[in-house]
Amino acid sequence: MLNMTELATPEKMLFPFDTLRRLRHETPVRYDSNRNCWDVFRYEDVQRILKDSKTFSSERGAGAGSTILFMDPPKHKQMRDLVSRAFTPKAIQELTPRIQSIAEQLLDAVTEDAMDITSDFATPLPVIVIAELLGAPKEDREQFKRWSDILVESADDLSDEAFRRITDKRMKAMEELYGYFRNIMGQRAAEPQDDLITALMNAEIEGEKLTEKEIVSFCVLLLAAGNETTTNLITNGVRVLTEMPELQERLFQSPDLIPAFIEEVLRYYPPIVAIGRKATDQVQIGDQTIEKGAQVISWVGAANRDESRFVEPDDFRLDRKPNPHMTFGFGIHFCLGAPLARLEGKIAFQALLNRYQNLARASSGSIQPIQSSFVFGVKNYPITMHIR
Ligand code: HEM
Repeated sequence: MLNMTELATPEKMLFPFDTLRRLRHETPVRYDSNRNCWDVFRYEDVQRILKDSKTFSSERGAGAGSTILFMDPPKHKQMRDLVSRAFTPKAIQELTPRIQSIAEQLLDAVTEDAMDITSDFATPLPVIVIAELLGAPKEDREQFKRWSDILVESADDLSDEAFRRITDKRMKAMEELYGYFRNIMGQRAAEPQDDLITALMNAEIEGEKLTEKEIVSFCVLLLAAGNETTTNLITNGVRVLTEMPELQERLFQSPDLIPAFIEEVLRYYPPIVAIGRKATDQVQIGDQTIEKGAQVISWVGAANRDESRFVEPDDFRLDRKPNPHMTFGFGIHFCLGAPLARLEGKIAFQALLNRYQNLARASSGSIQPIQSSFVFGVKNYPITMHIR
């Protein structure tokens, strides 16, 4: 999927929210002939689309792999029930001490009063957590990161050539990942371990186990869905702290506000700004008629700032309660990793604020947006800070 022309410049990608507000007001539901899809910007409409999985299907063509993200009911429910057993909020909660120690180790390795929050902290943290959770050996982490980056990369420009290049790269990364996980499964079959891959291999519903392909696809999905998103949650949160420095002391003095801070970062600077579906029937949204088979893009980045749902939506407020942002989606595909992402976010900000004060964006160097039509984040975010 290409970027929409309204958001094609680096400045807009670094701050798309004014444009998204304008589009929500002027053309809440509109067809974009460049990208050959519909865009939907209002909270109410986005929620309706994500709720109605019958009219708005998640299925993709062949090649997308058999992952739950791209399945419709009833298959989706069976698979989701199965993988949820290995991926329970309780199992996630038990990771707390381990995630804390990974966060501390990463910060111990920072020796100066400056760092790039993205590469030094926000990127390795979720990669290490997922790799450990799955049971992948430590020495494969770098390779893991490369694969997960390729899976979420977008084409550099609009040419067919760029599109072919990225597709080839992705296919190759997928093949390598499939081989990698198949190999680990072989090892676990001989010698089970206390890890997610072993749990997935043992999980059963009515005597039925997951196939090898389903397990491998799920592992690949966790990498693709869990790493860059969590990285961007952390980096976007640090961006908020440097743009509104008064929050730093407030959160340090009252660390029990950190979960509310994480929720507001998710709403205000969401790591995912858009979610795709396909209309299975002709359907009316607002005053537009969407034809059967059309691609429909739901802009949660716009819905999260819809004034009909949120008071003063462009203000960052720790006291926003409730905070019904849709950054983790809505309905049957609601993010399975949300408890993990929230926990990692909480631990990351506890660790940062306990150790440092006066976090500020470094004056040198410009920041680059991630080139993606679904992801909102930056590739680098250099900061300076003082040890407390
Ligand atoms: C689904 C966002 C972290 C695993 C989703 C969806 C969104 C999302 C929007 C729904 C997509 C749709 O409806 O088509 C996020 C954000 C994250 C995050 C913003 C971080 C801040 C994670 C993590 C994991 C994960 C850490 C796992 C390690 C999944 C899975 C699904 C999913 C497996 C598919 C669920 C289904 O189809 O039933 N995520 N995610 N996510 N996410 Fe996340």
